[in-house]
Amino acid sequence: MKYRGIIFDLDGVICSTDEYHYQAWKKLAEDLGVAFDREKNNRLRGVSRMASLEIVLEDYPEPLAEAEKLALAEQKNESYKALLTKMSPADLSQEVKNTLLTLRKQGLKLAIGSSSRNTPTILRQIGLDGFFDAVSDGNNITKSKPDPEVFLKAAQMLNLPPEDCLVVEDAAAGAEAGHRGGMDVACVGDAARLKAGEYNLDSIGGLLSI
Ligand code: BG6
Ligand code: MG
Repeated sequence: MKYRGIIFDLDGVICSTDEYHYQAWKKLAEDLGVAFDREKNNRLRGVSRMASLEIVLEDYPEPLAEAEKLALAEQKNESYKALLTKMSPADLSQEVKNTLLTLRKQGLKLAIGSSSRNTPTILRQIGLDGFFDAVSDGNNITKSKPDPEVFLKAAQMLNLPPEDCLVVEDAAAGAEAGHRGGMDVACVGDAARLKAGEYNLDSIGGLLSI
């Protein structure tokens, strides 16, 4: 592999929390009486909590005050966090585990680059607390994907120039963020279907063939 570091998105790449985001947003949308489906959910991938809420509220008939929006985002996050409490190291797939360990053995530096402010909780739940060489997440950025900030900070923490890093993403917004940061991108899931990366993989294990 020509890269020296790999920066992984978290939700939908390392673990299936993207499904929990979907369920929590769906519940909020139902409470509000607005339509929400998988296609709309794909637009929320990689996007910050408040920007996601704006997309969910697109079909809401009246404008809402900032305080009401913050309360709705909090409501969604509470149901999301309730789902996270059920996660355990068993939610880390054997394929993800093998891939991470093999890449590390090959001498690559490994980082997380996620928009989520729940990143520390999730890494703890799935037993990856302290595993990565760097964690850049929603708690240390001012601009969410597709802005490259989260990945540039991760590269900086790894002490690597962006061009030596490969980003791994399931979101179109995340692939764009990687490219805007000057990095190559390997895609899985929704972003791979959109052929948004230099590499579009069937699953994360495909990284071992790059
Ligand atoms: C990203 C998810 O990883 O994190 C988005 O793909 C989510 O769907 C974003 O909105 C923010 O997450 P959180 O946990 O801070 O609400
Ligand atoms: Mg993702």
